[in-house]
Amino acid sequence: MSNKTFYVTTPIYYPSGKLHIGSAYTTIACDVLARYKRMMNYEVFYLTGLDEHGQKIQQKAQEAGITPQAYVDNMAVGVKNLWDLLNISYDKFIRTTDDYHEKVVADIFERLLAQGDIYLGEYSGWYSVSDEEFFTESQLAEVYYDDAGQVIGGLAPSGHEVELVSEESYFFKLSKYADRLVAFFKEHPEFIQPKGRMNEMLKNFIEPGLEDLAVSRTTFTWGVKVPSDPKHVVYVWIDALVNYITALGYGQDEHGNFDIFWHNDDQHEVLHMIGKDILRFHSIYWPIILMALDLPLPTRLVAHGWFVMQDGKMSKSKGNVVYPEMLVERFGLDPLRYYLMRSLPVGSDGTFTPEDYVGRINYELANDLGNLLNRTIAMINKYFDGSISTYAENVTDFDGDLAEIVAENLADYHKQMNAVNFPGALEAVWNIIARTNKYIDETAPWLLAKDESKQEELAAVMAHLAASLRLVAHLIQPFMMSTSNAIMEQLGFGLNFDLENLSLASMPAGVQVVEKGSPIFPRLDMEQEIAYIKEQMAADKTTADADWNPEEVELKSTKEDIKFDTFDAAEIRVAEVKEVEKVEGSDKLLRFRLDAGDGQDRQILSGIAKYYPDEQELVGKKVQIVANLKPRKMMKKYVSQGMILSAEHTGGLTLLTVDPSVPNGSIIG
Ligand code: ME8
Ligand code: MG
Repeated sequence: MSNKTFYVTTPIYYPSGKLHIGSAYTTIACDVLARYKRMMNYEVFYLTGLDEHGQKIQQKAQEAGITPQAYVDNMAVGVKNLWDLLNISYDKFIRTTDDYHEKVVADIFERLLAQGDIYLGEYSGWYSVSDEEFFTESQLAEVYYDDAGQVIGGLAPSGHEVELVSEESYFFKLSKYADRLVAFFKEHPEFIQPKGRMNEMLKNFIEPGLEDLAVSRTTFTWGVKVPSDPKHVVYVWIDALVNYITALGYGQDEHGNFDIFWHNDDQHEVLHMIGKDILRFHSIYWPIILMALDLPLPTRLVAHGWFVMQDGKMSKSKGNVVYPEMLVERFGLDPLRYYLMRSLPVGSDGTFTPEDYVGRINYELANDLGNLLNRTIAMINKYFDGSISTYAENVTDFDGDLAEIVAENLADYHKQMNAVNFPGALEAVWNIIARTNKYIDETAPWLLAKDESKQEELAAVMAHLAASLRLVAHLIQPFMMSTSNAIMEQLGFGLNFDLENLSLASMPAGVQVVEKGSPIFPRLDMEQEIAYIKEQMAADKTTADADWNPEEVELKSTKEDIKFDTFDAAEIRVAEVKEVEKVEGSDKLLRFRLDAGDGQDRQILSGIAKYYPDEQELVGKKVQIVANLKPRKMMKKYVSQGMILSAEHTGGLTLLTVDPSVPNGSIIG
């Protein structure tokens, strides 16, 4: 057994809904790394799981009319099925409701309490249930005030509503560890990937001063109880983050995996893969928790960007959510894994489009790779009855360049894999594929075949093609297992991989290709398949039902968003039309005399004459007026003291009337 170890983790996902290609992305990314490192003879431990506690889950279960435990049990089955479908090679699936985890969370909490890192205090703050996070007033994206100017609510930076929550709470003294954290950052500039994000964390959160973190709640019960004060449950981040060590046996009788994997040095890597949304928790809270527990910190945090849709974030109400199941069912697993890994740029967001999805299958998988294999198998069968001769260097004029390009890109592949740059690694592989396709054109085997004296060259060309495809099969094995296996089988190499010692020349001698290769990727009808994906996305679109999630809707309005106080500055009142007449010299204006309930009649001129040719019908109607618009002169002689509200529509324009029972002067708001 080797002593190089690699521990890789996904975030533990909230099981509060069906997982979409976003979580599938992170999980496949970790799977690719795990498979790559296993092939490179590391001892690997791959952890994934679910974050099952908290208020949101409690609410979801309540809505479903079942216990939180039953709710998460159901969800866990679905998630595991999904990971099976995606062929995820995790070594352990942790659930924060697992007994061993809950016990260690409670122990850790008590230990931190005993050593003075956690203390009891009073929390009063703006809390967003959706974000499971407290905010100070200055952190809110939007603040709502009452008439007296008191803050009564607002919106979190995520756009979710916050409410004022005041409760007894335990706090973690983060600030105590701030200097050590900064020192660690300085000593480990590679700790956070992409690099720039470390500075962001320093500037935005650490340098302004770390506030103590509330780590318990009394407002809900679905969580790990604090043993010494059981009305408190341990709040999300301690419970969730320590999963990375409880899963290895930390704090338990059996801690073998912890001893093996939780190290950070030349031989041992701990890599947390996360989305950019949770970097702050992983780069600040998590290291500090580990420092307080006297444990080594992880080696790397890789924060990837998000998959978004052309019309923004994925949301059911928009009908633009892509679920992995549908794509696998229709196109198979390998294209999905390939697409996700190839098309999300490192460090930024990427757009999923059906056009791109089908296009990449056709051009990159079916054309570039699939054809190369088919042509190679067909030629080896035709010219040499299926047997591949020993790989020999520099037989044709083109061998040298091919070998050089392959070696360069092979080195680059490893470099990119270690840098967790999947698009980069796959690009290196496709450079090899492209160069090999070009090699066929250059060497023109069909011409060599016609010339008796060129048999040795022809055999060398076939050996180069087989060697290159074998190499490609190795490199794509972590990404596309069945395609890689099919290439190895069709070329007669069997499933004998040796990525560590891979080169063109490492091809074993004396193998026999299959008699007839079957295409590894069928060519797709672009239009038809794009339409299919779009249909499926739309089919998941929800109407107003239990699945409606208003929080996910990006509201469309034609004007810029305004703050509540901007709107509130307008005084809109109910007013009754006492008199109305056409204004002489204008075919647009009507002149109104209105009773706005303030004991004085007011005059408003409104450009609506053409919509009310029989204007007298308006007398006695109650309308809505903006009462505090600055008066202005119209037609030189009339002052207009406000504005009457109306609705414009395709059929024309209608004054907004109010039920006659509403008293004049009533404030609208
Ligand atoms: O945050 N594109 O869980 P979560 C790419 N329980 N990745 C996406 C994505 C998208 N559109 N949407 C989600 C939590 N993800 C906590 C984590 S860890 C100790 C606790 C992925 O269910 C991405 O990895 O909200 C993101 O970080 C994660 O799902 C959030 O999952
Ligand atoms: Mg989240």
